[in-house]
Amino acid sequence: MSRFDELKQHLRTHQYTWLITGVAGFIGSNLLESLLQLNQKVVGLDNFATGYQHNIDQALTDAGRDPGDGDFRFIEGDICDPETCRQTCSGIDYVLHQAALGSVPRSIEDPLRTHRANIDGFLNMLLAARDAGVRRFVYAASSSTYGDHPDLPKVEENIGQPLSPYAVTKLVNELYASVFARTYGFKTIGLRYFNIFGKRQDPDGAYAAVIPKWIASLIARQTVYINGDGETSRDFCYIDNTIQMNLLSAMAEDPAALDQVYNVALNDRTSLTRLFEMIQERLLERMPGLERVEPVYRDFRAGDVRHSQADIGKAQRLLGYAPSHRIGEGLDAAMDWYVSVLS
Ligand SMILES: NC(=O)c1ccc[n+]([C@@H]2O[C@H](COP(=O)([O-])OP(=O)(O)OC[C@H]3O[C@@H](n4cnc5c(N)ncnc54)[C@H](O)[C@@H]3O)[C@@H](O)[C@H]2O)c1
Repeated sequence: MSRFDELKQHLRTHQYTWLITGVAGFIGSNLLESLLQLNQKVVGLDNFATGYQHNIDQALTDAGRDPGDGDFRFIEGDICDPETCRQTCSGIDYVLHQAALGSVPRSIEDPLRTHRANIDGFLNMLLAARDAGVRRFVYAASSSTYGDHPDLPKVEENIGQPLSPYAVTKLVNELYASVFARTYGFKTIGLRYFNIFGKRQDPDGAYAAVIPKWIASLIARQTVYINGDGETSRDFCYIDNTIQMNLLSAMAEDPAALDQVYNVALNDRTSLTRLFEMIQERLLERMPGLERVEPVYRDFRAGDVRHSQADIGKAQRLLGYAPSHRIGEGLDAAMDWYVSVLS
């Protein structure tokens, strides 16, 4: 039995109280669904900056719960407010801190707003969690922290210079987290998400991620743009692997596994052109009425790293991570959902 299977078995018979910040977002709402399925109690915090009530509603429905379910309590609030963070952390066993403003281009256009949510908000949450004596604080870090470091695959110890304000904020999170371990003995785990995808990832808006944006464009018969020559590559990681890493991190007891950051990915590398083909193939299978189209290539985007691929050995060794979905399997699962809501 895998470490994750053991953990799920434990959770089904032991109920804890979890705080998910950013619960109305893509990753947060998927964590909510999984924890409710495992019979856990969840408090969710969100200010709807980029998240939606319908994500929460869907997570409850998909977990087989009613809107007023007693195992879930939602608090609408901002992590930039220290008092909100303090109140929300009270009585919590495990914190999964996802709230932040994502997107490299957003941070280039409005660095101050990204800084407030991602650094001030992060520090508020870290302090509140420390003071509340939670068992574990797991937070969303980012692969953008590798910046201009040329090595592939990326190993956690070797990072370069950040290439965007967003990357700075995520690096600062890691620095604060490690200082909290050294100065207060408060040990956290940071998860450097690579490109995560799956149901409920927002396909709309200027800062949408590539997979939902392309699926939505293809379904709406709109042009798909590829930034650059199409050879830019990413380690695309399905949401279920991300959920696994959050839960393994929260419940980790091995002292060597704590006060660490981990890559969350597959150690795979897919070019944007190949990704487009994989998406289009799957969509045509499900919507045979669509016409096969070619993408339009345009300029590279500022702040983007050229290639990204993660070494996942550290997560396998110290946390027992065993990814359940390769990219193709993840795209199959995600595609069924996007087709059901967008077509
Ligand atoms: N999706 C990815 O591929 C990816 C990659 C690297 C890192 N991350 C990180 O993972 C986390 C979750 O990302 P996501 O893809 O689910 O994004 P998302 O935008 O769907 O979710 C973020 C949630 O945080 C909430 N939020 C933002 N600012 C807030 C504030 N000040 N107070 C309270 N809530 C606030 C938003 O309303 C939203 O619901 C973020 O920290 C992001 O930086 C995501």
